[in-house]
Amino acid sequence: MSRIYWNNDWLFLENVSKEKCVCVNWDDSKSVRLPHTTKETPLHYFDESMYQMECAYKKTFVGLEEWKNKTVLLTVEAAGHVSAVFLNGVLLGEHFNGYTSFSVDMTKEIKTGEENELIIWVNSNENQNIPPFGKVIDYMTFGGLYREVYIDVLENEYISDVFVKPERLGDGRYKLHADVSFSNGITVCDYDGVIPNTNEELSLSIKLKQCGSYEENKNDLWKTDLFLKELTVNEWSIENPNLYELQVSLLKAGEVIDVKSVRFGFRKASFKADGFYLNGQKVTIRGLNRHQSYPYVGYASPKSMQIEDARILKEELKVNAVRTSHYPQSHHFLDACDELGLLVFTEIPGWQHLGDKQWKEQAVINTKEMVLQYRNHPSIILWGTRINESEDEDELYTKTNKVAKELDSTRQTSGVRFIQKSNLIEDVYAFNDFSHDGTTRGCQPKSKTTTDMNKGFLISEFNGHMFPTKAFDTEDKRVEHMLRHARVMDAYYGEAGIAGGFGWCMFDYNTHKDFGSGDRICYHGVMDAFRNPKMAAYLYEAQTNDDVVLEVTSAMEVGEHPACLLPDVYAITNADSVKFYKNGKFVGEFGQDKKVFKNLPNSPIIIDDLIGNLMEEDEGFSHKMSEEVKYILMAAGKHGLSNLPLKAKLLAAKCIAVRHMSMSQAVELYNKYIGNWGGEATVYRFEAIKNGEVVKVVEKSPMKTPQLEVKVSHTTLKEENTYDMASVRIRALSEKGNLLDFANEPLSISASGPIEIVGPKLISLNGGMGGFYIKTKGEPGKASVIINSPGFETQTIELNVEC
Ligand code: GAL
Repeated sequence: MSRIYWNNDWLFLENVSKEKCVCVNWDDSKSVRLPHTTKETPLHYFDESMYQMECAYKKTFVGLEEWKNKTVLLTVEAAGHVSAVFLNGVLLGEHFNGYTSFSVDMTKEIKTGEENELIIWVNSNENQNIPPFGKVIDYMTFGGLYREVYIDVLENEYISDVFVKPERLGDGRYKLHADVSFSNGITVCDYDGVIPNTNEELSLSIKLKQCGSYEENKNDLWKTDLFLKELTVNEWSIENPNLYELQVSLLKAGEVIDVKSVRFGFRKASFKADGFYLNGQKVTIRGLNRHQSYPYVGYASPKSMQIEDARILKEELKVNAVRTSHYPQSHHFLDACDELGLLVFTEIPGWQHLGDKQWKEQAVINTKEMVLQYRNHPSIILWGTRINESEDEDELYTKTNKVAKELDSTRQTSGVRFIQKSNLIEDVYAFNDFSHDGTTRGCQPKSKTTTDMNKGFLISEFNGHMFPTKAFDTEDKRVEHMLRHARVMDAYYGEAGIAGGFGWCMFDYNTHKDFGSGDRICYHGVMDAFRNPKMAAYLYEAQTNDDVVLEVTSAMEVGEHPACLLPDVYAITNADSVKFYKNGKFVGEFGQDKKVFKNLPNSPIIIDDLIGNLMEEDEGFSHKMSEEVKYILMAAGKHGLSNLPLKAKLLAAKCIAVRHMSMSQAVELYNKYIGNWGGEATVYRFEAIKNGEVVKVVEKSPMKTPQLEVKVSHTTLKEENTYDMASVRIRALSEKGNLLDFANEPLSISASGPIEIVGPKLISLNGGMGGFYIKTKGEPGKASVIINSPGFETQTIELNVEC
């Protein structure tokens, strides 16, 4: 068999009906490559109708002589949202799900030696009678041929599918099971030398090897004789995501006529009453929800950007799980989750709404497609077989659950609810717990929500709309956003029977007029739309001990706060303690006793004494007096003079009466130790201490020289099956590396060489951060991008494009 990618040389025409697409005039069409979005959109403030249309893609090709007497299948990885495929004017098939792939058989209609015309008509309107449509949706559902397209040239008898089902016997001990399906519809389980009901000349050869650990094609390293016996293997886990490849060859009279390889992992995932277990080990799920959208290009983002999101989740946000809310996402993303060791909860498309009979039938088909297409990914630990946050609908969900179980006996099912005590048809109760409002407990106990305490339970979403937070919001708001994530996380870590949670959500996303902040963005992310970290992102990052994290939640600028009242200062860190210095003088060390949350793997540490013994040293106060005055000053800094707590008032009276302190002296002390007005610039130094050593330092002081930090996802871009794209993330920083939170400067971007900039060439930072994308144009060579901005030094990115 051979696979040929057809991502280049398409013509795209807007506003064409299905009836007309085969006879329309293509003069006004545009030449495009896949992945393609029906319309590039602005970052925000645009009308969602702009990407909704009926449109068509056309490709002309010459049928090759060698395709004669072969089967040629065309696969479309995603067409958002309803599509129809025509070859030489003949309708080959239609598809009614924008989030799964589909294949059509082109064999009968291909003319070999002649020009053929392939047209894929796509309807990206949101008013269609299929999931997720029918009501409102809190995310934009961009359209187009937004994943890849390829053809497979096969013999007439071929392997249509291989599903590998490892059975865990014990640590590293497995029995292998596999279902191999053929073009004639027959499926063979655990092949034992016979393919029933087929030509006797047909046989299989099945081989197994671990991926990545041997040189490719060293056939002697493949294992054969695989079924019905115990195998010792390296298991797939979060820390060691070992992957294997099962290669199935179909032979006819001893000649190989087809080969299908699938990648999978040996692992056992199970949700039990008391939590989630991977390979027998209990793991608390600490995850985030991810949409598949990007600024400007909507859903149309190629392989490297899909991988980049998985990398960011694993390596920057340090989560161990992701929910592909609210639909199956790119295999490139899932492949990266497999490779990185990220647990995935994936679900059928839908959002709150249930439609009519036909709509529901489509939901069952969607379940079938999701399970069949994604079931070899070891990262997927759970199928969502309900429409996100819909009402109970037992008849439908009994069907979807049954379909998932029939097609995959190895995985548990769930479905995301916002109602408590809903009917639990599946194995796991997944609940969107938005109960935390800043004052209440982080989450509800399992018993309050589930109908079956003996089954698994997880929190599938929290926070989100309860506290939308922009990167350019006030510091107080950004800190509270972080704390809300911490409170819920801390609660689920401490709650018996809760397997963990998925925060809402990874990054800010484009949404409809009914949601978001009026600019068509839902600012619910722990990152901005370009995947720049907001403060809450550091909380996630600090939960492992992989790299040292130290982020101080305040810029230490009193003027940012109402009435110049200082907020609580937290160090988001995974260190043992934090030493704090003011103007080079040691103030105090804040350790375990200053951790704010008791269940979190690494709680933020509160820095609640900004004065320490400085007044003893600098003012010559006795220890007692220094402590008393400090109490008054800190209280004044936090609550304001007019709201001093009683204890502070009494101490103030004592200072005046007994210690003869004048008001002007008190004000001077306040200005010196709390307000830090006038005089020398104050330098606050925070040192993260691990095992007695300083492992990271953050210094806060008034900025002097603004600079741009430019992070490029990769500088060698490769044209493989289609164009490549790199992300550029930009932050304005002080010379000490502190984010200039309110820098909203314009940046002008220019490119030279075989690349183009995606989106506008003039952008602005938002909350000190911004980004853009670079795309290859099909030619190799050196390229560069220049970023200019009035307040910053010019930045140049050097790139290399390989074809
Ligand atoms: C949930 C929904 C998500 C998102 C979130 C915002 O109800 O499932 O898609 O809208 O609210 O908090």
